[in-house]
Amino acid sequence: MRIDTKTDIYGIIGHPIGHSLSPLIHNAAFESNNLNSVYVSFDVYEENLKDAILGIKALGIKGINVTVPHKENVIKYLDYVSDEAKLIGAVNTIKNNNGILEGYNTDVTGFSESLKEHGIEVEGKNAVILGAGGAARAVAVGLSLAGVRTIIVANRSKEKARNLSTYIKNNLGINCIDVTYDDLNQLEEIDILVNATSVGMSPNINLSPVDENVVVKAKFVYDIIYNPEKTLLLSYAEKCGIRNLNGFDMLINQANHSFKIWTGVNFNRSIILNILKKKDFVK
Ligand code: ATR
Repeated sequence: MRIDTKTDIYGIIGHPIGHSLSPLIHNAAFESNNLNSVYVSFDVYEENLKDAILGIKALGIKGINVTVPHKENVIKYLDYVSDEAKLIGAVNTIKNNNGILEGYNTDVTGFSESLKEHGIEVEGKNAVILGAGGAARAVAVGLSLAGVRTIIVANRSKEKARNLSTYIKNNLGINCIDVTYDDLNQLEEIDILVNATSVGMSPNINLSPVDENVVVKAKFVYDIIYNPEKTLLLSYAEKCGIRNLNGFDMLINQANHSFKIWTGVNFNRSIILNILKKKDFVK
């Protein structure tokens, strides 16, 4: 990697930021596209968010990914926000377009594309989303835009579940209800079951947001967690012979869309996968 006075700076802001795979992915992408650019991570506390965003302009940083907990709060500091990001109420990608900060959301596209790539039909189906945070919102919007018939949101905090279901009903016109985890036992059949909570993520790999008796009702199980590769939830699905997918493709797709917003080109997916394999992130 060459770093000189012409090197363009990109990065990610969030807190905590230590476990992000984005620096690895984007630096590999810059290198394989022969771009004189570098991607670094910035651990930004909530009280410093405004200064950090002003710093993008002041320092001429070319692009920034935004992660938890700043995806929603960052919007008020941007000059332009895409319709999709407005709909979701969250920005995960900022492009510094000659001093104009533009906000986009590539999580939804990343999620929807991964369903398409694996041939998962959404139109007319019923879906259960576990969780009601930012990731669950992106999943709910993605499913709604893909023509899902009904969405059931189950979440630990009832208030957050209600907020998300109301939001989806009002903004996307989809039949959406919120329930408790216990209520899921009453369901007969689930076309698409998506885990959008952090339950089961490393290091808490012995946890699952729902038990096998709920999983067995599903025709397809998607866990947006990618570390571990196979969460306990996905191992239940596997045991029951149910098609399933982890969050790795969503991660790669959202990163590729950010990369394209910044550079105008797609990155080479197989090169990125090989690099992640070498670092033991992919088997
Ligand atoms: P993200 O942007 O990744 O979605 P978030 O907005 O903090 O992050 O949301 C985390 C989600 O995981 C929430 O749905 C949260 O449930 P609550 O709204 O009830 O907090 C869910 N979650 C996290 N830890 C959980 C746990 N131990 N049990 C159940 N749900 C949990």
